[in-house]
Amino acid sequence: MSNLMDTIEPLDINIVCAEDIFLITDDQTIMYDLFNDVGVVGLGHSALKSVFQALVDGEPYSIPAILGSEWREKAATQLCQVMGYDKVFFCNSGTEAIEAAIKLARRYMKVIKGDKRKTIYTLKGVFHGRTYGALAASDAASYHKEDFEPHLPGFKHFTDIGEIDWDECMAVMVTPAFVNKDVNLFDANFLDELRRMTNYTGALFIVDEIQTGFGRCGEWKLTDAYGIQPDIIAVGKGIANGLPVGAILSTNEISQAFTPGRHFSTYGGIPICMMAVCKVIELVEPLIDSLAIYDLGEYFLRELSDIKFMKHVRGIGLLIAVDLDVNAKEFCIEARKHGVMIATFDDKCIKMTPPLTIGIGDIDRLIRVFHHIYQEHIEVP
Ligand SMILES: Cc1ncc(COP(=O)(O)O)c(C=O)c1O
Repeated sequence: MSNLMDTIEPLDINIVCAEDIFLITDDQTIMYDLFNDVGVVGLGHSALKSVFQALVDGEPYSIPAILGSEWREKAATQLCQVMGYDKVFFCNSGTEAIEAAIKLARRYMKVIKGDKRKTIYTLKGVFHGRTYGALAASDAASYHKEDFEPHLPGFKHFTDIGEIDWDECMAVMVTPAFVNKDVNLFDANFLDELRRMTNYTGALFIVDEIQTGFGRCGEWKLTDAYGIQPDIIAVGKGIANGLPVGAILSTNEISQAFTPGRHFSTYGGIPICMMAVCKVIELVEPLIDSLAIYDLGEYFLRELSDIKFMKHVRGIGLLIAVDLDVNAKEFCIEARKHGVMIATFDDKCIKMTPPLTIGIGDIDRLIRVFHHIYQEHIEVP
């Protein structure tokens, strides 16, 4: 029996090795990794080798924020440049980035602006993380929110922009697409209208790009695809290709709200993680500039649409969801037996986050595997 607390239903698979876009199990099965914890290892499992080598060669892996580290400064400069902001705060996960975004927004509005409004509006059904502030901001029933009541006050949820009472709204926080266990893009005007209304009313516009950022959707952040610049963004997942990093970015004006002692993270910004962030930026930049992720995504979506038991194939870049005519969990089991790691938390829908470095040849191979599973193993009703 495991000594781990029972927070997840693990698959019965032990990974002993990982190379490029493949996982290798203890029974020597080689699997394409289309899950990678929902896009965390976006550049494949070998991308950080030079970072680990630098540590072996003597680079310090942990320097506290109170001491200078050139890697922390370098990562901050590069990140602000590609994301289009002035300042960044580093932490260790997506949910901590959301906590930091909430705190920065609240202090900016209260202390710097002297604004009395206190309500943060978030989307109905949204997921922003599992710590207490992020959980209060979330509204996804499947995360068992009710078990942890009472929740922090100061949050309301909305679907239509008309539901927002701007007299009490200090900030709106959204994901730039619905991405919980699925992928659904918003109507093109939705984010635009939110940006317009938050500008008009002086409320802050916060966007959670934790899953959608770092090239996953073809851009540094998905809001770039809509031509929108939020006041604060939260990033995580793909930012350090599997090392624990989260961050928020904002303007000089809003970032004044964090002064010494107002917020901090012991591990936030340690050199090993910052080296990884720099490496990711170096490797993702050409993929974004060349539109390679968009092209691969479109090709993958088109090929998936030709598979009979796959319906409503959707996504942007390499964030892809598909409804199945067959049981999704059964399909994933068959896929894994055929060397493709996909996980689903739903009976109907699979979500895939292939490595951004996947090639057309890999996609063709995957499509052949999916056809094969359909023909040989699963009965379509
Ligand atoms: C949109 C979104 N926000 C926040 C989080 C929380 O990130 P983490 O699990 O790194 O705390 C996730 C994680 O899946 C996410 O998808």
